[in-house]
Parts: sequence; structure tokens; C-alpha cells
Amino acid sequence: MLSIGSISLSSPLVLAPLAGYSDLPFRLLCRQFGAGLCVSEMISSHGLVYGQPKTISMLASCDDERPVSFQLFGADPAIMGEAAAILASYDPDFIDINMGCPVRKVTKRGAGAALMTDIGLAEQITKAVVDRSSCPVTVKIRSGPDSRSICAVDFTTMAQTNGVSAVCVHGRTWKQGFSGQADWSIIKDIKNSAAIPILGNGDVQTCEQALARIRESGCDGVLIGRAAIGNPWVFSERGRPEGIAEVTAVVNQHLELIANHIKEPNRCLGSIKNHLGKYFKGFPGSSKVRKEIFEKQDFISLRSYLQAMA
Ligand SMILES: Cc1cc2nc3c(=O)[nH]c(=O)nc-3n(C[C@H](O)[C@H](O)[C@H](O)COP(=O)(O)O)c2cc1C
Repeated sequence: MLSIGSISLSSPLVLAPLAGYSDLPFRLLCRQFGAGLCVSEMISSHGLVYGQPKTISMLASCDDERPVSFQLFGADPAIMGEAAAILASYDPDFIDINMGCPVRKVTKRGAGAALMTDIGLAEQITKAVVDRSSCPVTVKIRSGPDSRSICAVDFTTMAQTNGVSAVCVHGRTWKQGFSGQADWSIIKDIKNSAAIPILGNGDVQTCEQALARIRESGCDGVLIGRAAIGNPWVFSERGRPEGIAEVTAVVNQHLELIANHIKEPNRCLGSIKNHLGKYFKGFPGSSKVRKEIFEKQDFISLRSYLQAMA
């Protein structure tokens, strides 16, 4: 079984950090369906240090979801260290450092995947976060900045040397964004060179595929991202139910978790609709259901519509 630091996970399958999706309600659902660990949406180190309410609201958690990992992003070692110290008061099980996000608003400030071009700065950030954390720290990287400068093995060695407890590797370069295919041979190379657990990531669609990736690459666990959106069953061997009634029941459970854990759901209605719409993908009549979902003006009417479908 996969252990990171002193924490053993119930499954090697992990919900990847997904901005706009991996909030507390969805993490609870993924844990229920078998994820061994869930990673939060990326949390701004600046937002945390400057006490921005939106950032603070992203730290919502509860015992039922443990173990949980909060992911930090930023490019300033001092601010990242400070943010890790603030996070400690929220008692996370892990802190993950984002060195893989290719989104422009993150990379233009030197954070996320841009760190893959500067191992010196990445090391300073890693040291600062490890020094100020009271829990195991993990790092999420890509294979490198582009195909001519694959450096994930060097980054893993750097992370390991500085006290990181596990490395998650998305087998694409920064330049690739989400295009092409993830290269799992790089994940195998990293696993062969590392002493700490390695979690592979990229293009895994089912639980069965994830277990096959573990066997083939030798990695210790797998992060599942896009295939989990609207599909928390991806973490279970049984997979998504065939009938729409079972799916709708879980959509309603998701809505209940939102009602219980999100203070003002109307403020994030767009992302809630986005997520719920994904559950119905592929079912006959799904475009009508999605249209209805997107027409709802507030959380209460959205919930009434989906409750009536059950
Ligand atoms: C909508 C969306 C949001 C994401 N947000 C984050 C994030 O906050 N932090 C991060 O490190 N990666 C983020 N990623 C990348 C995923 O964690 C993952 O590495 C990537 O999607 C590849 O895995 P997959 O093929 O299983 O989706 C995001 C990806 C998507 C599609």
C-alpha cells in the first residue's frame, strides 16, 4: 500500500488538483468512491499571506475527507514559506507545491510550470516550504519545459534531497499544455532513479487503466484529473453506473455536500453548473439536461430541478 511520509493511503489512486473542481464537496465524494487522497485546487501563496477571503475560503476541510493535501502556488520563496506556515494552522495532511500549471496567469509570474525552467528557484521554494511545514510536502512537476529539456529526473532528485516526501509527475512538458499524449516512459525513468514515492499522471481514464500504469511504470500511485470531473466513480473498480437514476442520485448527493459546505453557493454557481453538467455526458437526452442546468439562475432552483429528476 502507498505511504507518503508516515501516512498510509487506502488506495494508490489520487484525485489530482483541479482548479474549479477539487473543492471540499467533490473531494468528499471522491474519497467515498475510493480515492486514497484528494488534492485541493491550487491556492495562491500571496492570497494566503495577504488574507484574501476567496483564498481563505478554499481552505475549507473536514475530518471525513482526511487525508487531504492543500496545493500552494507561487514563485517567491519567502511568501511560499510564509504561506506554508499559515497552512499549518489548518492542519493539512500534506502540502503540495505546484510546479506544473501551464496557465498563463500563473506562469507569467514565474510560478507553476515556469519553475521547471529554473531549478535554483524551485529549490529555494522547496526548501522554504519544507522548512515551514509541519506535515509531509509533495511536489507536482511536469516532464520539463519542452521536449528538448526534459528535466523531471533532476527535479525529483532536487526535491528528494530537500526533504520532499513524494513527487507527482504529469508526463507532458510545459510547452505541450494539454496537447498530445502524456509520456509514461519518463515516469518510469523517474521511478527508477528515486527513493521516494512517485505518482504518475496523465490521460488515465479508468481505475483499471490506473492500476495497469502502476504495474507497467513501477510508479507508486496515480493522479487522476480530467476523467474524475463529473465521474467520482473513476476511483472504484466498478466505474460509472450505467443507469441515469444512479448518476442523478450522486449528483443530488454532490448538491447536498455543496449546500452543507459552501457558504454562498450562488457566488460560484457557474462552476457548480459546469461540474454538474459533466455528470450527464453520454446519456440520451443529456444536452437537454445540461441546457436546463445552465438556465438555472440560483442554487435553489438548480437543486429543485435535479431533485425532481431523481
Ligand atoms: C480544469 C483543470 C484544472 C486544473 N487545475 C490544476 C491545479 O490547480 N493544480 C495543478 O497542479 N494542476 C491542475 N491541473 C492539472 C491536473 O492536475 C493534471 O495534472 C492534468 O489534468 C493531467 O491529468 P489528467 O490527464 O488525468 O487530467 C488542472 C487541470 C484541469 C483540466
